Amino acid sequence: MEPAILTRGLTKRYGKARGIESVDLEVRRGEVFGLLGPNGAGKTTTIRILLDMLRPSAGEASVLGLDPRRDGPSLRARVGYLPGEPGLAERMGVGDQLRYFANLRGGVEWARVEALAQRLDLDLAREVRALSRGNKQKVGLVQAFMHEPDLLVLDEPTSGLDPLIQQRFNALVRETAKRGATVFLSSHVLPEVEALCDRVGIIREGRLVAVETMEGLKARALRRVDARFATPPDLALLRDVPGVLEARVEGNHLRCAVRGETGALVKALARGDLVDLRVRDPTLEDVFLGFYGEEEPHAA
Ligand SMILES: Nc1ncnc2c1ncn2[C@@H]1O[C@H](COP(=O)(O)OP(=O)(O)O)[C@@H](O)[C@H]1O
Ligand SMILES: [Mg+2]
Repeated sequence: MEPAILTRGLTKRYGKARGIESVDLEVRRGEVFGLLGPNGAGKTTTIRILLDMLRPSAGEASVLGLDPRRDGPSLRARVGYLPGEPGLAERMGVGDQLRYFANLRGGVEWARVEALAQRLDLDLAREVRALSRGNKQKVGLVQAFMHEPDLLVLDEPTSGLDPLIQQRFNALVRETAKRGATVFLSSHVLPEVEALCDRVGIIREGRLVAVETMEGLKARALRRVDARFATPPDLALLRDVPGVLEARVEGNHLRCAVRGETGALVKALARGDLVDLRVRDPTLEDVFLGFYGEEEPHAA
């Protein structure tokens, strides 16, 4: 079967301004794929082209084997979409709004809408305008999932969701992938996609700079380490530890970053009079540095 999403040389310029530049992306059927990058990287631009809400300046895209520019209607029937900014009618009740969307689509089981709302803890009786940002996000999610589409395209789905609802959303995504559907989502927050995605594409300044499994990404991402000793430590402790960057001593602290797993570093540090150790989970920036950061010679 053809991939769920395939792009070749996909490029969008806004006048002279960069949107995305020559993006080659392949998302397989049944996978959960995260498009990860900071604000302004080009995630929404990519997504809007896939849904034919924007036309590319160059390159091509195919979605579920179809051409978004020609096969819009049949594609929309098989795709669930959460826009970055869900457009809702403020003066409608949540239930009425969702019923309206369900009727537009046709063939949506109302019981499924209710079940989704319940899972996400969304009150169908409220008015849209009284909802918090997180609750509006839930309305958009119910709308995206209500017709059990073959492909879900979710633009920053977890933004504004509290941690409990985020977990329920994660479970929903995993179930969706299990029944064979594909989930393509964007995020600028690494920890949010960590528990969720099979593979991630890293987008930066309009370019897709890496595509990796989640394990592969973690194995390369930098972890920031802050080790406290009883007395000022010697950088030479790190001499034989691979993948160390930015090592420095400040008072009784030795601070550094390490690429991938921390086992070898921890063992080396423990040869000194180590008192305490903190390892920070990698941020998105640490992922980039994991791909691009150069190891420095240290501790002669
Ligand atoms: N309508 C537009 N007009 C001009 N520039 C735009 C427009 N939409 C997006 N851009 C630019 O395209 C780049 C990518 O934006 P976007 O796709 O929204 O990024 P992301 O969703 O990753 O935050 C940014 O530099 C942004 O300023
Ligand atoms: Mg965006």
